[in-house]
Amino acid sequence: MSATLSELAHTEALHFERLATLGTLAAGLAHEIGTPLATVLTNLDVVLERLGELDVPADEIRPLVEALIEARAGVDVVGRAVGSMRRFGDVEGDDVEDVSLPEAVSLALDVAGHELRHRARLIIEHDDAPRVRGNLHQLAQVVVQLLSNAAQALPEGNAEAHEVRITTRRCRPGGACIEVRDTGAGIDADDLPRIFDRDYTTRVRPGGRHGIGLAVCRAIVQGLGGVIEVESEPGRGTTVRVRLPAVSQRRPAQRLAPVHAVPSPARRGRVLLVDDDPLVRTALCRALGREHVVEPVASGREALVRLREDPRWDVIVCDLLMPDLTGPQLHAALRRERPDLADRMVFVTGGAFTDETRAFLAAIDNPVFHKPFRIRVLRDVIAAAVALVG
Ligand SMILES: Nc1ncnc2c1ncn2[C@@H]1O[C@H](COP(=O)(O)OP(=O)(O)OP(=O)(O)O)[C@@H](O)[C@H]1O
Ligand SMILES: [Mg+2]
Repeated sequence: MSATLSELAHTEALHFERLATLGTLAAGLAHEIGTPLATVLTNLDVVLERLGELDVPADEIRPLVEALIEARAGVDVVGRAVGSMRRFGDVEGDDVEDVSLPEAVSLALDVAGHELRHRARLIIEHDDAPRVRGNLHQLAQVVVQLLSNAAQALPEGNAEAHEVRITTRRCRPGGACIEVRDTGAGIDADDLPRIFDRDYTTRVRPGGRHGIGLAVCRAIVQGLGGVIEVESEPGRGTTVRVRLPAVSQRRPAQRLAPVHAVPSPARRGRVLLVDDDPLVRTALCRALGREHVVEPVASGREALVRLREDPRWDVIVCDLLMPDLTGPQLHAALRRERPDLADRMVFVTGGAFTDETRAFLAAIDNPVFHKPFRIRVLRDVIAAAVALVG
């Protein structure tokens, strides 16, 4: 028996409640980890740079430089994991947008990839799939469910003998398609008609409720005007195909960040640094202080006072979430009083977004850096802004 629409809506609501809680947790953790990581990364970059300038024999310096480069590579890996957690934490955003299927797959792999890697070789093929109208996180959730089902159809520990192939491609007429093919246990022909039913499951795991994954997938896919199909051969494997209507017109060009040239500054710039975290302030002052005059302030309110008494700043590097006056609030105040200064704001953020912050980031053209970021990228943006002001 198929579930009714209202039952499905309830199932979906339950499921997304579970995901939203997970997402909030992930975003909070990303924020907690990202900020100190930004301090570590910035300081490593500064030390590496200064070591290179010391008048010490290269043989003595080399092991230290190598140790720091390895430390930085480790921090970069953690930084990427933080980025994935942050993106997963964005699951509550339900905006409809033109979604790239490879992007949805990549987000899903961040979440579910580890479940697969010790069970199968993972093959990913992206073949010119057009974008689809939908929500990135919902589509990523569909892929997560399909990958999780594929993983559970495969035995552990014999990864070389098995394969999970994820394909995105164009499918006619006017469609885009994601396919997840596994070489796992397969599904008996008799069971095939029931697998989308809510509560139909062959899992015998204690705790938790199962049998909702495919019901949720079908609800999401049908909600986007698509279909989901399954082919399976017991003992040989299963293919699940999601077909979605493609966006007909080309997506407008992505908005470019206002500055992306990388000239080296002819003069020292003036940078106002607004961050409530003292370690981030110290690290950024250290990293930028030789090229520019950097003045740190600990809050948005303090920044506003400083900007009112002296507006001659090339760049305002500003945290997003601060207790008294947030980055968006400072931006709004400057928009009213000194729009030229609002344009010179560069945001650094550890994530953990509220709906307002998310809407704010979508609406502005200013550069945004997610902690941790590499200091040279921020330097390039500041250098370009200084050159622009002249
Ligand atoms: N790739 C697959 N290979 C083999 N069987 C599958 C596959 N995908 C789904 N199934 C079968 O369909 C059933 C229903 O899948 P569904 O994703 O809806 O629920 P579930 O995986 O059992 O639980 P959960 O709610 O945690 O996703 C599974 O229990 C399994 O028997
Ligand atoms: Mg499942």
